Amino acid sequence: MSTSPSPALQSTLAQRRSRLEKALALRTEILLIPSGMEIGVPGGLDAVYPFVEHPDFRWLSEQRGPGHVLAFDPDEGWQEFFQRPSVNDTIWTGARWDGRGRSVTELKDWLASRVKAGKKLLALGSSSEHIEGFPVEHRPEVAALAWHARRSKDAHSISLIEKAVAATAAGFKALPAFIAPGRSEREIAAEIAHRFFCAGADALAFPTIVGCGDNSACLHFTPSERQVKAQDWILVDAGASVAGYVADVTRMFPSRSGSFSGLQKELYDLLLTAQLAAIDRCRPGVEWHEVHRGVALDIARGLCHFGIIKSSAEAAVESGAIGVFLPHGVGHMFGLGIRDASGHSPDRTSLETVGLVRLRCHFKLEPGYSMTVEPGCYFIPAYLDQQEQAGRFKDQIDFDVARGEFARIGGLRIEDDIIVGEAGKPPKVLTSEIPK
Ligand code: GLY
Ligand code: MN
Ligand code: MN
Repeated sequence: MSTSPSPALQSTLAQRRSRLEKALALRTEILLIPSGMEIGVPGGLDAVYPFVEHPDFRWLSEQRGPGHVLAFDPDEGWQEFFQRPSVNDTIWTGARWDGRGRSVTELKDWLASRVKAGKKLLALGSSSEHIEGFPVEHRPEVAALAWHARRSKDAHSISLIEKAVAATAAGFKALPAFIAPGRSEREIAAEIAHRFFCAGADALAFPTIVGCGDNSACLHFTPSERQVKAQDWILVDAGASVAGYVADVTRMFPSRSGSFSGLQKELYDLLLTAQLAAIDRCRPGVEWHEVHRGVALDIARGLCHFGIIKSSAEAAVESGAIGVFLPHGVGHMFGLGIRDASGHSPDRTSLETVGLVRLRCHFKLEPGYSMTVEPGCYFIPAYLDQQEQAGRFKDQIDFDVARGEFARIGGLRIEDDIIVGEAGKPPKVLTSEIPK
């Protein structure tokens, strides 16, 4: 369905486009930004996977749907080539168009005349059949500049993120009354989705993760028929999506209303303290890898206390041994999707690896950045075995201690969504009303 932007949104889009123009400073090249094409389900005849517009396209248009292409010619400004629904589309899906923009069927001629005049073509966004056959370049340095330009979220993005957060909060708040011994992981995933949609979600941000007991140690566990047992804790990592904007939250739940068992509680308190400290470190000018190193050090100190790490915490961070228990980065940028505009700033050429962990982001934080802060601590038998058999970290990790009671408990993660504030101010925790 075509949606004409309101005057306020038109002004937002004009500001975003101007931000991108300044960042790229194109002189003669034409920039193309396709929304992407639908992907057919293999063997599915006319069935397609749910379509997600490329965030580069969404950010510059806030338009939904496949087949569209935005174009920027420094001599002519912005052109919008939209995929207009056919009568068949209207019959099957109800799609309509308000007549805005140009038809994407005009794009090939528009491009051909400009290529003939010697203009080069650059592209961001997704692939598109409408630009196939033209000599289009995808330059990593152009993509890095564009992503950097859209990292700091404007009021329009934040208001939609807040709607996604509100729906997400409604789902999480319903779970303590729902989770009980005998409930399956799938039932819990279905319940939270139901609550998200009742509270305004129009999609899930990503497939919900629910892991009971030691399934909690699998980072992206697909909910199974396994039922909650009395001694389990349950990891739920889920998010609602509203108009393409998302939230991404993880909470740990006891098996029934009440509290965690002794060791679960000790681990939980350790991680929560580390997570709160990590959130507080998210200030303008701070390197994201420093947020990661800080939380890794705090978790390592706790694991020293449990006798799992035998060296100093500092040495375990230095050598990377802590990565056996914290095998993912401290978080990522989110917004238009759960990895929105992660990656590195234009002054860098690659992502950063800290010990065993490749971080999703490599930049200094700036006001308006939307980040998840999601440290975890996991006891994964297969990973412990692999590292021990490789003879790694044997002076630093007591593998037998880690494989015992800790591996039976599984793993834990606590994840909140924040917006980095102005200098000297703590970040705004968007998900603070979800109890933890
Ligand atoms: N929900 C997946 C993640 O936290 O990245
Ligand atoms: Mn998550
Ligand atoms: Mn996340």
